[in-house]
Amino acid sequence: MNGHPTRDGWFSAGQVPCDPVPPPREHPYRVVLLGPPGVGKGTQAMLLGQTLRACHLSTGDLFRAASCGSELSPSMRAAIAATQRGELVCEELVIDLVRERAGCLRCHGGFLLDGFPRNVTQAQALDELLAELNVTLDAVLYFELPQEEIVARLAGRRTCSRCPAVYHLAARPPATAGVCDGCGGELTQRADDRPDVIRVRMQAYDESTRPLIDFYRRDGRLVSVAATGTPEQIRDRAMRLLDRRVGASQAVAQSV
Ligand code: AP5
Repeated sequence: MNGHPTRDGWFSAGQVPCDPVPPPREHPYRVVLLGPPGVGKGTQAMLLGQTLRACHLSTGDLFRAASCGSELSPSMRAAIAATQRGELVCEELVIDLVRERAGCLRCHGGFLLDGFPRNVTQAQALDELLAELNVTLDAVLYFELPQEEIVARLAGRRTCSRCPAVYHLAARPPATAGVCDGCGGELTQRADDRPDVIRVRMQAYDESTRPLIDFYRRDGRLVSVAATGTPEQIRDRAMRLLDRRVGASQAVAQSV
């Protein structure tokens, strides 16, 4: 995948190594991407991942990958059913899934965590896990966009049925309608992008995830990014803010 890390370790809970294994970095970026459904977190994780050579760790992708499998545990079946209704998956399961992937959080290449944490309990669990691993979270990028633009992004999203590619009918159309540019796979609409399910997802965001804005703002980890413009413009904006933030925290670390 263009020389940037595969996500084998993430999908296999460390049973399969990534190829290539990311080389040690002087300062790997470790970042959470926060924002409402459809704001563009996955798109930014992919673009930032190419720039930073850091891995895109998405809990939503774990559930979508599992839904294609055949031998599912009862708790994973319940989790997939929750995603299809647009509800949050039970937090014990999500936290266990991330714990099993602690190796990805310690990875020398850094990480871009997308879709986790999604409530304060998950955020506290992440802080505890990172402290155990002796790893510092550099920043939480919070992507902001007016609601009507979010709805337009979700309505036009199409995803490849074979690879992780994500398109938008207007903003990122494939060269041939309905066909993935990269692998030729069929493009489909995500099951949870139906209007009735979008409503449930937005409500879950407002009730459970939005409080994380204050949670991370209080201790200075929140970095707000306007999610308007093209994906590349947003990526460049996020990179500038991130570099400033990481540079500042390194300066503090060196002075103590
Ligand atoms: P998840 O996959 O995390 O979904 P989400 O948070 O709802 O986010 P999306 O993937 O819908 O949107 P996105 O912000 O990544 O936008 P994208 O880049 O695709 O989770 C799915 C489900 O799993 C949850 O509902 C829940 O059930 C469960 N789950 C996951 N994690 C959980 C957790 N921690 N706890 C409990 N449950 C959990 O972009 C959207 C569209 O816009 C695309 O078409 C894209 O091409 C387009 N686009 C992107 N940027 C731009 C731009 N700048 N201009 C125009 N179009 C753009």
